[in-house]
Amino acid sequence: MAHETNDFDWTALAGMLELEGEAHSPYVQQAFEELERLVPAPGRILDVGSGPGVAACRLASVFPRAEVVAVDGSPELLALAEKRAARLGVRLGTRAAEFPAGLAGLGTADLVWSGQVVHHVGDQQGALDRLAGLLAPGGVLAVVEGGLPARCLPRDPGFGRPDLHSRLDAAMADRFARMREELPGSVAVTENWSEMLRAAGLTEVRSRTFLVDRPAPLDEGTRQFLRQMLERQRRMAAEALDAEDVATLDRLLDPADPAGIDHRPDLFLLVAKTVHFGRRPRD
Ligand SMILES: C[S@@+](CC[C@H](N)C(=O)[O-])C[C@H]1O[C@@H](n2cnc3c(N)ncnc32)[C@H](O)[C@@H]1O
Repeated sequence: MAHETNDFDWTALAGMLELEGEAHSPYVQQAFEELERLVPAPGRILDVGSGPGVAACRLASVFPRAEVVAVDGSPELLALAEKRAARLGVRLGTRAAEFPAGLAGLGTADLVWSGQVVHHVGDQQGALDRLAGLLAPGGVLAVVEGGLPARCLPRDPGFGRPDLHSRLDAAMADRFARMREELPGSVAVTENWSEMLRAAGLTEVRSRTFLVDRPAPLDEGTRQFLRQMLERQRRMAAEALDAEDVATLDRLLDPADPAGIDHRPDLFLLVAKTVHFGRRPRD
């Protein structure tokens, strides 16, 4: 059966997650350069909530001597991660586990990476406590949460009301808040990630924000990712938009329209991702 949390059918999003992972690779690369400084020779690495393994395979390539394990609730996504690893010729193990309960049996690691996952768990502090609990003494946890939403269109795309992105952001933020409220065991918390990492017992805590800056003209993969991202925003946010904005989105998504996203020469990707780092003290 497809792995579903109450917010998404993750397996159905496989194609988008893979394209997103590739489009976002510049921020992951910068974050991993930071990890190389923080943990120069990790023996074991866990990517918790790896999805189809784009970042996990990069970890395996950056740290070829480490045992890297991709962990996710979706066996289908893990199968994609294994295929990717074989294609790229990197060493990657996989483990199916539901969070947070399934984190208990994973063993310890010198480095735990968890990208865009904690906000899908009802009790975010509890999830961080468990992720921190996976660290060997001196090990580092890196959690991707927050940043700034993506931009891909000029303020005025040439039709419709300008600044569609801002209204889509507002609608998606409402959806996000509803999603969080409806998660099982949802706990409201001040999302001060540095404080939350400290509360999980970690030291040397800091947050860094990395850019994904892909100017026009875009490669085909990033363009495909943006199509899937806008289609998803259309599905999730249409009810909160007015008719003019929905018509603008439909025109942007029309493959036959020369001003649609499949053909526009001015399409770009600009997004910021924040990574929160913390170290388990040596005993
Ligand atoms: C937004 S994706 C992130 C994928 C990847 N880390 C990235 O940054 O692109 C969230 C991933 O977490 C997994 N996930 C979310 N909630 C989960 C849960 N409760 N148990 C297990 N896996 C979960 C999903 O299957 C999905 O692959």
